[in-house]
Amino acid sequence: MEDDRYTYYATLVHHVRSTIEAIQNLEYSKCFDRDYLEHTLIPALGLNNEYLSQQPKELGPYYGTGLHLWQYPSQLADYLVWLSLNGKGVKRYMEIGCRWGGTFIVVSEWLKKIGAELELSIAVDPVDATPFIKEYIAISSTPVVYLNDYSTSKSVIEYQRMAKPDMVFIDGDHSMPGVMFDHGLVRRSANIIVHHDIASFACPPTVAFWNYAREAEENFECFEFVSQYESVAGNFLGIGAMKRI
Ligand SMILES: C[S@@+](CC[C@H](N)C(=O)[O-])C[C@H]1O[C@@H](n2cnc3c(N)ncnc32)[C@H](O)[C@@H]1O
Repeated sequence: MEDDRYTYYATLVHHVRSTIEAIQNLEYSKCFDRDYLEHTLIPALGLNNEYLSQQPKELGPYYGTGLHLWQYPSQLADYLVWLSLNGKGVKRYMEIGCRWGGTFIVVSEWLKKIGAELELSIAVDPVDATPFIKEYIAISSTPVVYLNDYSTSKSVIEYQRMAKPDMVFIDGDHSMPGVMFDHGLVRRSANIIVHHDIASFACPPTVAFWNYAREAEENFECFEFVSQYESVAGNFLGIGAMKRI
């Protein structure tokens, strides 16, 4: 089953280049236009087609296309605009739990687009590097490293200590011990820490951890991108960003 998906995604790797070009060619003013990003750019990049009961049916034509982004366009649009305003200083970006790689690629390219002098992007996941990740390593204009292991492994911990990523997106182990470990790993060195699934009925531990961390982390200002779709029964996904004060 998993092998079938790798074979399938291998037929779609041209979307990595077209995503890079779409972001590079975007008019700069559009980096702050959340409606354009939500309704035009993000759907065109392609949305994931897993767990469709959690996805708005009105976006039907975009599921199973392009980069298969596992995000709500409404939330990702608000997050990208926030990054346009807050991400310029990022030099080393890390995503813990990158899965197929869509969000990792878009955020790395977005940081460059908005003027960050990105030196390194690090993707972490115990699954084998996916076709999108391999293609991105091959064609990105900046260095990309794939750590094929758990965030709790010695190799990832040592790499994190050496590279000191200043922005980290946490979307790996969604259990309470898992999300606590990942946050603890990076909280001293990162200036921006982003958590996924902070408003999801499907992930109580990540919601609970975010609610705790936003009160406990006094040295960070917190921002939430959690808008929902009326056509979906329940609340899902949700992006929470913390910026060091
Ligand atoms: C929800 S998916 C990530 C989706 C991805 N961030 C995106 O936006 O498309 C969660 C991923 O976390 C990975 N994972 C689980 N435990 C992990 C850990 N301890 N360290 C790193 N990755 C982990 C899984 O293999 C899975 O690919």
